[in-house]
Amino acid sequence: MPAYRIAIIPGDGVGNEVAEEALKILMAVAEKYTLDLDTEHFPWGCDYFLSRGIMMPNDALDILRAFDAIFLGCIGDGMKVPDHVSLTMLLAIRKGFDQYVNLRPIKLYPSVKTPVITATPQSIDMVVVRENTEGEYSAMGGFFKSGSRDGFATQTAVFTQKGCERVVRYAFDLARKRRKYDDEPQVGMVTNCTKSNALNYSMVFWDNVYDQIARDYPDIRTDKALVDALTMWLVKNPGYFDVIVASNLFGDIITDLGAMLQGGMGFAAGANINPDKIYPSMFEPIHGSAPKYTGKAVVNPIASIESIRLMLEHLGETQAGQDIENAITEVLQSGEIQTKDMGGQSKTHEVGDAIRTAILKA
Ligand code: IPM
Ligand code: MN
Repeated sequence: MPAYRIAIIPGDGVGNEVAEEALKILMAVAEKYTLDLDTEHFPWGCDYFLSRGIMMPNDALDILRAFDAIFLGCIGDGMKVPDHVSLTMLLAIRKGFDQYVNLRPIKLYPSVKTPVITATPQSIDMVVVRENTEGEYSAMGGFFKSGSRDGFATQTAVFTQKGCERVVRYAFDLARKRRKYDDEPQVGMVTNCTKSNALNYSMVFWDNVYDQIARDYPDIRTDKALVDALTMWLVKNPGYFDVIVASNLFGDIITDLGAMLQGGMGFAAGANINPDKIYPSMFEPIHGSAPKYTGKAVVNPIASIESIRLMLEHLGETQAGQDIENAITEVLQSGEIQTKDMGGQSKTHEVGDAIRTAILKA
């Protein structure tokens, strides 16, 4: 009986509600596959900050290290703590545990409406591999001559050979595994999301690394798109894409667009992965904490449930992950469950209940 220790950090706003549904689904598959689960909740976030002056304990990473995986609800509540302060917590875990891949699958479930007319369940089948530890998020820079008209700020992006190599390699390996074009000699494609026409050092460097790594994958198509044009193509012809590899900031931006292709933020999941499994990986919906909806049970927990699916796949529980995907498909296709973002009135817990039932009866 495999045993897993899972840390749960519900966080702020609607974090508690979505974490509860995520856990419900985790428990359902544990029951079905007799997985031995040990979960522990950590009340870290903005309220913790208000009483203690820190978002999480100073030894938080030491505590989390003992776990096999982390589920994170959502962090941030601008009325309590400025966002650039509260979000250091998220970035500290991503960097501290060297979770250098932020994996964001973009898939449209059947029966889900999206505002993008080119998006159909057939056309939306791609994964964004976002660099997650460096680049534009390197937190290097400063404020200078503050308060005067000569005042200025700098923010330096750092792109290292190792940092670029490992994320690009991950993207090519993923394309090889996905085999989107199974019947063609080149079984997949990795689109390099860049901006090397304007960012003449960092992105030229990034492109060079991409080209170096691509040589090791003759079975995978190469492709390059400037990030601005990519946003246009993602709307115009989303079915073209397979795997997209992007820097930290570009990956952040294009995955919000990706969320709309999926039907909204309520469907978009993310995995912060340390592929070497030296540290625990962290799984989270990519939406924010939506404080105004707190306690109303109106938010869509599917993004969080999808994150649990990614967690199980990472832990090697492939069948359990597949069961979650099938159950979500079944529940959405039945049309019975429609949360507020889908134009309906289903409650957050009703979504989890329906998916749980579908998992257990399959
Ligand atoms: C995300 C979020 C975070 C990011 C914020 C909250 C720091 O937008 O996970 O996409 O920019 O990475
Ligand atoms: Mn984002």
